[in-house]
Amino acid sequence: MRFSAAAVLLCAGYFLLSAAVSAHPRGEWTKLILTQHWPKTFCGMHHCQTNISFWTLHGLWPNAGSMCNSSWHFNASLIEDILPEMQKYWPDLLAPFSPEFWQYEWKKHGTCAAKAESLNSQHKYFSKALELYHKFNLTSVLMNKQIVPSEEHYKLDDIETALTSFYGVKLKIQCVHPGKGGQFQTLGQIEICVDKDFQLMDCERSGEEILSNEILPLGVESHPDLSVCDHSMPIYYPPVVSRSQRW
Ligand SMILES: *[C@@H]1O[C@H](CO)[C@@H](O)[C@H](O)[C@H]1NC(C)=O
Ligand SMILES: *[C@@H]1O[C@H](CO)[C@@H](O)[C@H](O)[C@H]1NC(C)=O
Ligand SMILES: *[C@@H]1O[C@H](CO)[C@@H](O)[C@H](O)[C@H]1NC(C)=O
Ligand SMILES: *[C@@H]1O[C@H](CO)[C@@H](O)[C@H](O)[C@H]1NC(C)=O
Repeated sequence: MRFSAAAVLLCAGYFLLSAAVSAHPRGEWTKLILTQHWPKTFCGMHHCQTNISFWTLHGLWPNAGSMCNSSWHFNASLIEDILPEMQKYWPDLLAPFSPEFWQYEWKKHGTCAAKAESLNSQHKYFSKALELYHKFNLTSVLMNKQIVPSEEHYKLDDIETALTSFYGVKLKIQCVHPGKGGQFQTLGQIEICVDKDFQLMDCERSGEEILSNEILPLGVESHPDLSVCDHSMPIYYPPVVSRSQRW
């Protein structure tokens, strides 16, 4: 009994894997995910200190591939002209002024994004991420829709509506879920998706497409405590200086 259940799971896994591979015959990506996190929430999970009061970059992730070229090393001197912007908007919250975060993102995601001519150098990759980050200015969009860090809680519907009405596509909104008995979830990370031409597209698609195309968000890192926000629970968007430490 136990064996056959495992076999069924294995078969299903294999089927989904083949489907995913055939959807990207040459390992080419079809979507890029611009991921931003809220520093205060990140530091709540990772026990760091931050006073940053805007959304910062986490990464620019293609939807296919991970660690695509281990011999293509990160070299900060290739992006020297954009380093001040990188430090400000793409900070390593755990180790400010260290290039380790960018090195990791390049190795894991950048080398795969680089399969497209538009992103086939470190300079192109990192500057495109910054360009999209400025263009989509999440911090300002939320603020203009009166969604600001606050001790009051928000409804997911209100955040979704605000974002969808501005961008015209569905973003992926992720929260840190409370432990047992917790009363609210905490806004943590937001993904904005674009196609190969850097045009906005929905981050989430119909179930069928998810099966054939998205079963392996290959190498897209997920934090165990972070998942899509839940409609049934209020959302806390933590102010940088909060009245009480709520973690
Ligand atoms: C945030 O902290 C950094 C380093 O501790 C400091 O240099 C900076 O002035 C602070 N920024 C604000 C807005 O308080
Ligand atoms: C991997 O990166 C190295 C160094 O940039 C480059 O010479 C090589 O062509 C790349 N390999 C592939 C398969 O892209
Ligand atoms: C980094 O890039 C610079 C500029 O192209 C080059 O001079 C240097 O040798 C590279 N460093 C490494 C470790 O590859
Ligand atoms: C976002 O917009 C605000 C307000 O217009 C501006 O102050 C800020 O510099 C912008 N941020 C980015 C990353 O472009």
